[in-house]
Amino acid sequence: MKLPVLEDLGDVRGKTVLVRTDFNVPMSGPDSARIITDDFRIRAALPTIQWLVERGAKVVCATHLGRPKGAPNPKYSLAPVRARLAELAPGVELRENLRFSPGEEGNDPAFVAELVRGVDAYVNDAFGAAHRAHASIVGPPKTLPSAAGRLVQREVEVVERLRDNPKRPFVAVLGGAKVSDKLGVIDALVKIVDHLLIGGGMCFTFLAAKGNPVGDSICERDQVDHCRNLLAQHDNILLPEDIIGLDADGTYATFGVRLPDGAKGMDVGPGTAAAFSDAIMEARSVFWNGPMGVFEDARFAKGTRTVAQAMADTKAFTVVGGGDSAAALAQFGLNDEVDHVSTGGGASLEFIEFGDLPGLQALREAPNVV
Ligand code: 3PG
Repeated sequence: MKLPVLEDLGDVRGKTVLVRTDFNVPMSGPDSARIITDDFRIRAALPTIQWLVERGAKVVCATHLGRPKGAPNPKYSLAPVRARLAELAPGVELRENLRFSPGEEGNDPAFVAELVRGVDAYVNDAFGAAHRAHASIVGPPKTLPSAAGRLVQREVEVVERLRDNPKRPFVAVLGGAKVSDKLGVIDALVKIVDHLLIGGGMCFTFLAAKGNPVGDSICERDQVDHCRNLLAQHDNILLPEDIIGLDADGTYATFGVRLPDGAKGMDVGPGTAAAFSDAIMEARSVFWNGPMGVFEDARFAKGTRTVAQAMADTKAFTVVGGGDSAAALAQFGLNDEVDHVSTGGGASLEFIEFGDLPGLQALREAPNVV
């Protein structure tokens, strides 16, 4: 069944449309004076909001912010988001933080009933939350005419294009601290990409699986067997050939792939960064998720910066899978240099891994879908 889009809502003039957005934006500052540090997710919802407003709909947005665990918490007040939304889309209402109610994460029917009261149609434009089977994601499409917003539509198209019909060579670059968070997506990607490049903290579990000592680097011992099996079954996994980190007395050092006792790997080394960059430059499709090292520390940012630069320079179709890699791209001022930056790190990984998301499935089952 096809994913309904805005046009499938019919005439929205005079109707009240509930738009589930993902305004879970990064913030800094004290609880009483939080400041939005990146409004990307708010701006990303504007095409949908404007489409509806231009056609005479009354738009009511609803979002979660943070993880307040079902109770009001000033730290997660939507006041700064509401103020920014008022500047970008004057007159558009924003309801209270959905996660101030336990009914949201519990997918409580009573909370769904509250959400849809007085509403004529529902739009899900919260791609970053579409992997959560929460009330505001899966509840309204059970009774209301529903559609994917423009952002969700674009995110789905991009991932489907990579998954089903990638231009080759197709390269995936995965990093981040924990291999256990990404085993599912590694299992899915390794079968469809030409080269899978692994950096970041997770590379040490793979290096350990090849029999290398990894010192005090992050290593998930319980995943070593899984990584060993993956390496035995697939010859398209490219691991680092050198590592930058701190030796046992805390001095900055470059290592090969065998780290001495007490040493801690913090970034991929220059040889690895160059090899990864070459693979990205030669690719025709690239998916990147997860930094290559602790890029927030300038000493360990080179690997991530080199990958980000290659993403910007390559002629390939480039997709950055949200989260920390999107933050890294922004830190290096390169976010406008790639084809697509996903607004949902976790959601894009789960979409690749499972081939669908609860929020998309719910839309396909909405009453207006024939
Ligand atoms: C995100 O930031 O990835 C989304 O807003 C989802 O947030 P969550 O992981 O708290 O559900």
